[in-house]
Amino acid sequence: REVITTRDIRNRKGGTPIVCLTAYTAPMARLLDPHVDLILVGDSLGNVVYGMETTLGVTLDMMIAHGAGVMRKARRACVVVDLPFGSYQESPQQAFRNAARVMTETGCRAVKLEGGSEMAETISFLTARGIPVLAHVGLTPQAVNAMGGFRTQGRSGPDAERILRDASAVAEAGAFAVVVEGVVEHLAREITSRIEVPTIGIGASAACDGQILVSEDLLGLYGEHLPKFVKRYANLGEEIDRAVANFADDVRARRFPDEAHVFKAVGGGR
Ligand code: KIV
Ligand code: NA
Repeated sequence: REVITTRDIRNRKGGTPIVCLTAYTAPMARLLDPHVDLILVGDSLGNVVYGMETTLGVTLDMMIAHGAGVMRKARRACVVVDLPFGSYQESPQQAFRNAARVMTETGCRAVKLEGGSEMAETISFLTARGIPVLAHVGLTPQAVNAMGGFRTQGRSGPDAERILRDASAVAEAGAFAVVVEGVVEHLAREITSRIEVPTIGIGASAACDGQILVSEDLLGLYGEHLPKFVKRYANLGEEIDRAVANFADDVRARRFPDEAHVFKAVGGGR
């Protein structure tokens, strides 16, 4: 059967856009797998699944547990697991030790880590030792405290120059692709034309080589206020609300369970 490797993703530079979504669970992985090229087990699960304000509280054990669940139902998509805050920034050795745990305990194909030039050494250390890396530049949510909030990056000239240097550094260090988050369109276009590996955009315009969104955002399962860059393709939150309200009404009115959902003894038992 067809499986999509990090090399396949790398070779899609400039071709048909690469389709990526997040999954944190086995059932979501099963639903996405036939349609997407890459499934990211993002540390956004801290926000989406655990109700945290930022991703800083996400642990390696959480990423491994969710990554293993996703791997049980992903058959063809290339599965990448985020390294959480604090698990890789200290040194290339720390990054390798923790990334190796993620790879061996989940069976995923690659890890993702946030950062630019300062992570280049770590990215080449990992890739040289058998761990493919998806890089992530621009708006990097694990650096929220250093950035002073979540805001679009690269609006000023020096800011844009720095992000372009970051993207070039991680690509040259051996990342098989680069997530570019929350940057203005002209910068996304510039990065995409300058680096040799695919850019995967989120809030980074259609100029990128691929797109990623948080699945719960596009499905209407998370967040009352949608960020500008998200398009809502379904309203599953409203569907769940309706379904649960109907169930509650039926139980209170003793309409559920009805005849069709009740066990009866065969042949006149008790
Ligand atoms: O954690 C995440 O979901 C991500 C993507 C949105 C890029 O890092
Ligand atoms: Na992430």
